[in-house]
Amino acid sequence: MDGMANNAAPKNGDPPFFLKEIYEQPSALAYTLAQFLGHNFQLKMNRPPLDDQSLRQVKKAYITACGTSYHAAMTARYLIEELAQIPTVVEPASECGCHHMLVDESTLAVAVSQSGRSPDTLAALDLARSRGAFTLAVVNESDSPLTEAAMGTLLTLAGKVQSKASTKAFTSQSLVLALLGLRLAQSRNLLRKEWRQEIESFSRIPEMIREALGKRELEPKAIEVAQFLNGYSQAFILARGHLLPMALEGALKLKEVARLHAEGYLAGEFGHGPLAMAGPQAPIIMFSFSDERDATCLALAFELKARGAPLILITEDGPKKDQALASIADIFLPLPQVPSRLRPMVAVIPLQLIAYHLGHVRGLDVDHPGGTLQPDVGRQAEGGPGLRKGNNGSMIHP
Ligand code: F6R
Repeated sequence: MDGMANNAAPKNGDPPFFLKEIYEQPSALAYTLAQFLGHNFQLKMNRPPLDDQSLRQVKKAYITACGTSYHAAMTARYLIEELAQIPTVVEPASECGCHHMLVDESTLAVAVSQSGRSPDTLAALDLARSRGAFTLAVVNESDSPLTEAAMGTLLTLAGKVQSKASTKAFTSQSLVLALLGLRLAQSRNLLRKEWRQEIESFSRIPEMIREALGKRELEPKAIEVAQFLNGYSQAFILARGHLLPMALEGALKLKEVARLHAEGYLAGEFGHGPLAMAGPQAPIIMFSFSDERDATCLALAFELKARGAPLILITEDGPKKDQALASIADIFLPLPQVPSRLRPMVAVIPLQLIAYHLGHVRGLDVDHPGGTLQPDVGRQAEGGPGLRKGNNGSMIHP
């Protein structure tokens, strides 16, 4: 719980699990990562059936999940397509039975779940398997129906999950999926020169999240944003590219934990209709990183401001470095500098904190928001911070 702001804990005792689990993310990621990292920058997913030869036969990746796990699944598409050059489809598990699922023997079908018990995710995995796909579970519960049903398992070691709203499982899933992208790229002899650099950079992610959480201004700023948002009944979170899943996830958390109607939206699409909603009544949270910012985003930010929308910018730059944006931002939320590929996992942290603090300000029970259908059973995973256990039937060999 190092680094947690003193004013974060409720006065009547221990901090809620939701907040505790936000702060457990560095250790959840460190445990998750450690099981895959071998000597000499090897990724230990290379025993059958995740051997090079089988992986080279993969022509398409099909990734499915529900809710927050679906947002983690979305992050995988950017990395698998970019690093391994494999076309990737990501679909909410509840949609899988609603149309013809285009998978076959050359498809790697990945089902992502914290509990391993979401019925839609299980049904989607079964359907993919019945069509001949190789099925892989990315799961936190080593002993769950999903691990039994899948042909292989990659575990997240996020440990015991007690908050209904997922945080540390989410970033751990995103990390495992990123490593899977790297492993697929490796099997195809891609990234030869960059390999060491990529692995080194992913292995620093627990530290980077620790830094983000410890960064002096982040939580006080999240509190400031939460108090600001408390006066509103809606908000938009705008992003582009690989940050979109984080905008969607932030919006999900704001709805679930803080009962704020929030929508995550593609910045480039916002000007095609939704802009009609922009104005003083609808605060906008926008990711704005100098190396990813383009004319569309800048023009949109100025247009939103001209329409009177309160603007909260999540950025690495700070008001001193970015005078133009500083002049229009109501609140700057600073993040530490991280390599672009790792940015999504860091960028979601302030949104989790804002959701917590807004829920707290609103007097809500952040641990039991009542917004998910999963049963309570199955939220007690093995492994992870303080709870290591062997890898039941997993094909990853530590
Ligand atoms: C939201 C949340 C849910 C779950 C979803 C899937 O904070 O936790 O959206 O992500 O119900 O659950 P799992 O991952 O257990 O399949």
